[in-house]
Amino acid sequence: MAEFSEVIKGRRSIRKYQDREVSAEQLKSVLEAVQWSPSWANTQCWEVVVVKDPAIRQTLQETLAKGNPATKAVVDAPVLLAMCGKLASSGYYKNEVTTKFGDWLLFDLGIATQSLCLAAHDLGLGTVIVGLFDHDKAGAALKLPAGYEVVTLIPLGYPAKESSPPKRREITEFTHQDTF
Ligand SMILES: Cc1cc2nc3c(=O)[nH]c(=O)nc-3n(C[C@H](O)[C@H](O)[C@H](O)COP(=O)(O)O)c2cc1C
Repeated sequence: MAEFSEVIKGRRSIRKYQDREVSAEQLKSVLEAVQWSPSWANTQCWEVVVVKDPAIRQTLQETLAKGNPATKAVVDAPVLLAMCGKLASSGYYKNEVTTKFGDWLLFDLGIATQSLCLAAHDLGLGTVIVGLFDHDKAGAALKLPAGYEVVTLIPLGYPAKESSPPKRREITEFTHQDTF
């Protein structure tokens, strides 16, 4: 187990994977990180599709925007997780939106996704969050029922190559005191 700060800072987007399986126990651990994530009024609107079937993987790969750097990872990683969510539940009360932001599905899935990626990194596994693809075509490939969307695809596996961390903004650049 790594230091907490190392888990936060050391996680990188991994786009090249070893030809090595992820165990059922490891997969359970990363899914537990989703399970215990916070969500709007504990809505837990997430649904995770574990995609191992090569044909479905290839169809999903074809939905990626041309030149997406994660293109190979979508088929090469031993596991591909499709992070899906139920529409019109998070941020809603009695079927009505409660805030100006409408559906909080992306927010809740974002938290759950970060939990998943950090848990994976803690286990020595790599991930990359893939958001640039045709979501409707990917939803069809995954046979999503009406009222659900696929938001991101996450390849998961042992890293073959790690890239250096992209530069971050300084804390002082994004922190404001008292007013913006
Ligand atoms: C919502 C979201 C969507 C992303 N979509 C893609 C993507 O489609 N393809 C890709 O290669 N990386 C994608 N990334 C990964 C980012 O490029 C990466 O997190 C960022 O460059 C910082 O690098 P790091 O994760 O190694 O710290 C995405 C990240 C997020 C949070």
